Amino acid sequence: MKKIRVNLGKRSYDINIASGMFEGLTEEVSKITDKKKTFIITDSNVNKLYSNTIEEVLRKKSVYAGKYAFHAGEKHKNLATIEAGYHAIVKSELDRGSVIAALGGGVCGDLAGFIAATYMRGIKFVQIPTTLLAMVDSSVGGKTGVDLNEGKNLIGAFWQPAAVFVDTKVLETLPGRELLCGFAEVVKYGMISDEKFFEYLENNIDGIKQKKCEVYEYIIGKCCSIKADIVSQDERENSSRAILNFGHTFGHAIETVSSYSKYRHGEAVAIGMLMACELGVILGSIDSTVKRRLQKLLQSLSLQEKAEGLNPKSILDAMSRDKKVKNGKINFIIPDTKIGQVKILNGVDNNLLLRAIETQL
Ligand SMILES: NC(=O)c1ccc[n+]([C@@H]2O[C@H](COP(=O)([O-])OP(=O)(O)OC[C@H]3O[C@@H](n4cnc5c(N)ncnc54)[C@H](O)[C@@H]3O)[C@@H](O)[C@H]2O)c1
Ligand SMILES: [Zn+2]
Repeated sequence: MKKIRVNLGKRSYDINIASGMFEGLTEEVSKITDKKKTFIITDSNVNKLYSNTIEEVLRKKSVYAGKYAFHAGEKHKNLATIEAGYHAIVKSELDRGSVIAALGGGVCGDLAGFIAATYMRGIKFVQIPTTLLAMVDSSVGGKTGVDLNEGKNLIGAFWQPAAVFVDTKVLETLPGRELLCGFAEVVKYGMISDEKFFEYLENNIDGIKQKKCEVYEYIIGKCCSIKADIVSQDERENSSRAILNFGHTFGHAIETVSSYSKYRHGEAVAIGMLMACELGVILGSIDSTVKRRLQKLLQSLSLQEKAEGLNPKSILDAMSRDKKVKNGKINFIIPDTKIGQVKILNGVDNNLLLRAIETQL
């Protein structure tokens, strides 16, 4: 089993990664849950696939108190689901010493993490991510929360898990499109901090497509270490953690303009990363080979490069309404000199932004 430490002083924790891990999970989990009440929060799809296995694990060394399975999907990442979740855990008599297991994708982790952060002013929780996106991104770093009608992730809390348990085997049941979305975030880690890792991805497309365990374990471990390092340095995104938003300012705008229906988050981020590269080329911070390499890697993973049919001006307008805009200026993360290196720009001329956007439409 691979272990990666997220160093956050008293809030430090381990990310445990292995294939077929659920069966042997009891010992590791019981370090956190021994003799405590435990409760699973999951979504309706993952519930059918994996909650029995996790329930068995929890029954062995903790006092298993029950489960809450909400309707799968981003549209249920809201306060109504949170309230129903609170009622379920009150009914199961969870107390301040209890532990919640978040079993599912990013939606589940964000919801369960927020419940854990706020129930009785905060109880422990562990993340058991089941999508690639959740394994490499949302289960690590402590951001939890829900959407409002007015915008995504507007309500939330920083609340670190007590541990993360990743079993790469569960990716076998993940729909192909969801897997691809996770790969957009994987590529992002190479772009923002590790050229060698980017090369590894370029050289292992076959292993990725054949779903080789060792390739997935390596990739997930690498992404988690990169995210762990970034989060350890800037837990609350006061400065450097912002580089994790590479491709996201453009990506969120693509999601908004297409009403969150045509593009999944990862698909929009892939196109957004290309827009950010184009901006880098326009501003002279990289030459076009960097963008071409990114383009080629995304292509070989079968990720789309263009958001055809969208209006560039609407994308620009959506970006200026992004919640990360500060004092009217939008922060952009662009590649700097080479793959694996980025810089943060505060405020860019709208005409240059439009040019960068138009190349990917
Ligand atoms: N907290 C953070 O730092 C952070 C970071 C990135 C994204 N997010 C959030 O994550 C969410 C997206 O997460 P996601 O892409 O994992 O979506 P998701 O949780 O909706 O999962 C995608 C779909 O896959 C299904 N599924 C999950 N695991 C499965 C498996 N092993 N086999 C079969 N089906 C499976 C789910 O039921 C769902 O239908 C967004 O709400 C986003 O805001 C949070
Ligand atoms: Zn993302």
